Amino acid sequence: MLCMNTFVQAQSVLAPAAIIDRRVDSLLSLMTIDEKIGQLNQLTSDWIFTGPIKNDNDKVAQIKKGMIGSMLNVSGVKHTRELQEYAMQSRLKIPLLFGLDVIHGFRTTFPLPLAEAASWDLEAIEKSARIAGKEAAAAGVHWTFAPMVDISRDPRWGRVMEGAGEDTYLGSLIAKARVKGFQGKGLGDKESIMACAKHFAAYGAAIGGRDYNSVDMSMRTLWDTYLPPFKAAADAGAATFMNSFNDLNGIPATGNSYLQRDILKGQWDFKGFVVSDWGSIGEMVNHGYAANEKEAARMAIQAGSDMDMESRCYRDHLYQLLKENKIQHSQLDDAVKRILRKKFELGLFEDPFRYCDSQRQDAQWNRASHLQAAREIATRSMVLLKNEKQILPLPNHNIKIACVGPFVKSVRDHLGFWSIEWPDDSSRIVTLWDGINRKLGKGSSLVYAKGCHTNDADTSGFAEAKRAALQSDVVVLTVGEERNMSGESKSRSSLRLPGVQEQLIKAMVATGKPVVLLIHAGRPLVFSWAADHVPSILYAWWLGTEAGNAMADVLFGDYNPSGKLPMTFPRNEGQIPIYYNHFNTGRPPATDSSNIYVSSYIDLPNSPRYPFGYGLSYTSFSYESFMLSDTSLRGNQTLTVTVRVKNTGKYPGKETVQLYLRDRVGKAVRPVKELKKFEQVYLQPGETKEVIFSLTTADLAYYDNELNYNWEEGVFDVMVGGNSRDVHMRSLQWSK
Ligand code: NOJ
Repeated sequence: MLCMNTFVQAQSVLAPAAIIDRRVDSLLSLMTIDEKIGQLNQLTSDWIFTGPIKNDNDKVAQIKKGMIGSMLNVSGVKHTRELQEYAMQSRLKIPLLFGLDVIHGFRTTFPLPLAEAASWDLEAIEKSARIAGKEAAAAGVHWTFAPMVDISRDPRWGRVMEGAGEDTYLGSLIAKARVKGFQGKGLGDKESIMACAKHFAAYGAAIGGRDYNSVDMSMRTLWDTYLPPFKAAADAGAATFMNSFNDLNGIPATGNSYLQRDILKGQWDFKGFVVSDWGSIGEMVNHGYAANEKEAARMAIQAGSDMDMESRCYRDHLYQLLKENKIQHSQLDDAVKRILRKKFELGLFEDPFRYCDSQRQDAQWNRASHLQAAREIATRSMVLLKNEKQILPLPNHNIKIACVGPFVKSVRDHLGFWSIEWPDDSSRIVTLWDGINRKLGKGSSLVYAKGCHTNDADTSGFAEAKRAALQSDVVVLTVGEERNMSGESKSRSSLRLPGVQEQLIKAMVATGKPVVLLIHAGRPLVFSWAADHVPSILYAWWLGTEAGNAMADVLFGDYNPSGKLPMTFPRNEGQIPIYYNHFNTGRPPATDSSNIYVSSYIDLPNSPRYPFGYGLSYTSFSYESFMLSDTSLRGNQTLTVTVRVKNTGKYPGKETVQLYLRDRVGKAVRPVKELKKFEQVYLQPGETKEVIFSLTTADLAYYDNELNYNWEEGVFDVMVGGNSRDVHMRSLQWSK
């Protein structure tokens, strides 16, 4: 009986793919060349633009002729239905695919992806993507251009806000969680949308942190550091990939056959389709890689870019290229088939309007459980950087609080850069002011002073801010970047607080009142004076719809902060790129200060302001009885690492126990440490838990200069701790 069931199940899992392939082939046989090319053409709607605008007055006519296969920047039942109805007037009635940047929430906005990464909470991250997927699917959206899985070591790059930070291991786990979240039970389930791993590849290493810039890196770094999150996304079943604006070692990613054909569709056997980034096919002319747009179209399709977002090069040139035999029919067919397959998998041929259901939209859009999830992950995303005099948590009784700063009453800023704005958002978004107000108990009061704007030289509000501070017991001060200072095309050469905000901090500290500083940003900022002089600092990013509630939860101790930095925070911009898993060099900074011939700066230490993995709690944790099961292992044996973590403070709290590894000597030099495992433990005051990690040789492997992926025997240092700097270390010999 059991065998029979297994057989029946196996059949039913395999059957749909085979059936879909047959349906794709038979549809393809009916299509004209123009209709095939149409499937590869993606244009933006005229309602939203997320790139340079090109005029195209006849989009409706193009849809009706089957000349457009997908639209981006369309959402809502009304709009998606309207456009799908035009597609149903085309000869073959092939449904349109609707894609949108659903990056950190849809109707309910969640914290920025980088902020969510600071939670190190994979379940919560998956849940956030799941909710975004459900809400978007109910509004006619089939496909999100997320997750961005680019590793980045450069906070000048404004897009760091959209990723998971600098670490490959953490980034790979988060990539997987997000893909699983968006795609839920799988394509075909009405509540799932297609994920898109982007930007393939290495976009996060744009030179100088300048968006759209070139990338030049060793193949080894590409394979070891930048590709694994993409591989994780592909393994998790990401339906699509997006290529990137950058050239990689001289070849634009969009025209890069090595990336798209050899690695992605070859070695990784990726069955989905690749969409270009906005206009990136045509941009190969500016790169100086294609002589003209026709050549760009040829190069892109040959390199494996299946869908053309917004450049129109495929639409305008593929037909002629085929006639001239410059591209093969099989290349066109392969791209079309990949796209049609996804339309079949989504069930759009059964019902092109299955994502357009206004009742479902209304129901999904007003779920208290979604707001609750947004609040929970927002509380987990904040990182406590300093709490010197234990000013936090604040009592909520008998306290006078001055709320000062340009973001106290911010509304839309909390949505961050990539968010969809709804007309009634302002009533849904919880400000810091409202969040604090809701918590205030007996005998407490609140005063407000804006102090200054974000980004000008006006200090006229300082006097009022000082008055507010002086009549209060504590100052809660908000500073930072506006939401649109990090994101696409938002590179900054200076990471300082804009305008006169640092002066405002100084003015508040000068009042002598205890100051709690909340910093909002989409990237690591440089705030040295505050780091040295303000006793309590909470990094609050942009936290989404429930921001104010979440911040108040943390300020008053209803949630004990547990976030850990997913990127290294530099002391100043001169240290960038800065990341924890660097090589040692031949001249590491010396302990003996008489040796000046070392790899260092003469004007500041190498160490960062705050290291990767760092974040405090209202309680404290100690690491005890750290042990390795063996000091000498052979071959495929397993190493067991145990450590007892104790809550030595007064509050219950969560600690993220991190395990780092160093391979002391390698065929190619190895990083000073690399994150290999982590686990989160929740402990009551006085409670101890044993955390057990297992390491195998799979955790030791890396790419050498010949791109062999192997582990080598030798001495390994195993480190555990609550961040990448403060670790306990033990060593072992691992032999073949
Ligand atoms: C350009 C961005 O690089 C990409 O991430 C985004 O998905 C597209 N524009 C569409 O908005």
